[in-house]
Amino acid sequence: MTIKPCSERNFSISMFDSSYGFEEYCNSVREYTNGILKNRGTSPLAYVRTFGCQQNEADSERLRGMLVSLGYLITDDEKLADCILVNTCAIREHAEIRALSFIGQYKHLKAANPRMIIGVCGCMSAEKHRVDQLKNSYPYVDFSLPPASDGLLPKAIYGAIKHRRDFTNLESCSEMPNIQPVRAEGSKAWVSIMYGCNNFCSYCIVPYVRGRERSRCSEEIVNEVKELVCSGYKDITLLGQNVNSFNGGCSFASLLRTLASLEGDFVLRFMTSHPKDVTPELIAVMAECPKVAKHFHLPLQSGSDRILKAMNRRYDREKYLSHVSALRKAMPDIVITSDIIVGFPGETEEDFEATLDIIDRVGFDMLYSFIYSPRKGTPAAEMENQIPREVQNNRFDRLLALQNAVGERRNKQSVGKTYRVLCEGPSKTDPSVLCGRTDGNKLVLFKGDAPEGKFINVYITDAEAYALHGNQI
Ligand code: 5AD
Ligand code: SF4
Repeated sequence: MTIKPCSERNFSISMFDSSYGFEEYCNSVREYTNGILKNRGTSPLAYVRTFGCQQNEADSERLRGMLVSLGYLITDDEKLADCILVNTCAIREHAEIRALSFIGQYKHLKAANPRMIIGVCGCMSAEKHRVDQLKNSYPYVDFSLPPASDGLLPKAIYGAIKHRRDFTNLESCSEMPNIQPVRAEGSKAWVSIMYGCNNFCSYCIVPYVRGRERSRCSEEIVNEVKELVCSGYKDITLLGQNVNSFNGGCSFASLLRTLASLEGDFVLRFMTSHPKDVTPELIAVMAECPKVAKHFHLPLQSGSDRILKAMNRRYDREKYLSHVSALRKAMPDIVITSDIIVGFPGETEEDFEATLDIIDRVGFDMLYSFIYSPRKGTPAAEMENQIPREVQNNRFDRLLALQNAVGERRNKQSVGKTYRVLCEGPSKTDPSVLCGRTDGNKLVLFKGDAPEGKFINVYITDAEAYALHGNQI
């Protein structure tokens, strides 16, 4: 598609804007996008690039929904876009550097099309020092918007149309407009059930950038999941920084029970859980409801009680191991995965060995391991005894080697068993086989003829650390 050069950003917006609210900003942006449609014969295009976690993926789907409601069409080619939003992550420095380097590339796109609107959203846009950096060193960026702020997007775009750069929005918008997210193709869907976090783990930036915890109302969530099931979604993940502290009118366990009793052929997942808030009721609901995936992602972070205390995690090894026993007792085949941080300030060799020990003891099916990254403004960044990079790297490599062995050991136990698998179509790495996920979220590569989005049974013939292999039966 060719896009004609245009002068749309000079398109005049008639109303005086000091008294504007959400609706007025929306209507004005729609006037603008309509003007482009009339001039050009096609709607203006918007591109949203996402960095980071599933919560960000879900936020991007809402941002796309808002853009569509403002008259944009979504493109996956940034070069064609009239509006680019970069949804950033701030969890580790590496994530920020990557996002900044992407934003850097957009300088050329803006030079080629000065009327392009560029906004930076997400966690990095709630950090004052990053917002200052965007404002001062990235003159082609029009605005920044903190996470879960699609309600502020119309105003920000309106400002950009009027050539006003805006870097004043540092706090998430408390009102979430009722918009239809534009979801990725396929049979998986994310449903955010809550936003923010109150836990203040000492290493983590999330409570500062995503704000305090707030839950959506349970009825609204039930309606959304009902609609998703009716539209054919088969794999639905409930998202929140700590879903166990959901309080949108009922407990998380009872929300899960209600959702799992809905009619239809689907699997229900959730993430993430905090070990301090896992309840016997939640374990019972998981065990009793066939539609709830037998997968628990339970971030451990460290196996040393001393480090867990310094991390402000509010549980110890014993508590964590007791959850694992309770889960395995209720669901012997449950898949347990976790997050581990290596090289937290003050971590000794002994602390690290305690982490290796618990990994082996629990036998995690999969681990997401991270080298500790100091985050400006968090207590851990100010702690003495920051661990040298070589020591962190060495521990990280040892942890990966152990987890490879543990993961393979766990996966080998699946050989000779049959699992229900949701087919995701041909594998990207080897298109001669199909790929899919078990209810436990394990990747399965298999021979068969199932269409994408169908549940089928697969007999497992072989296994390695990160995948199972088998045949459709
Ligand atoms: N450094 C490294 N890893 C971190 N995580 C959160 N903050 C940091 C940090 N500062 C990890 C935790 C969390 C996961 C989402 O990211 O393990 O569970
Ligand atoms: Fe960060 Fe801890 Fe909240 Fe998770 S629970 S988002 S690690 S502060």
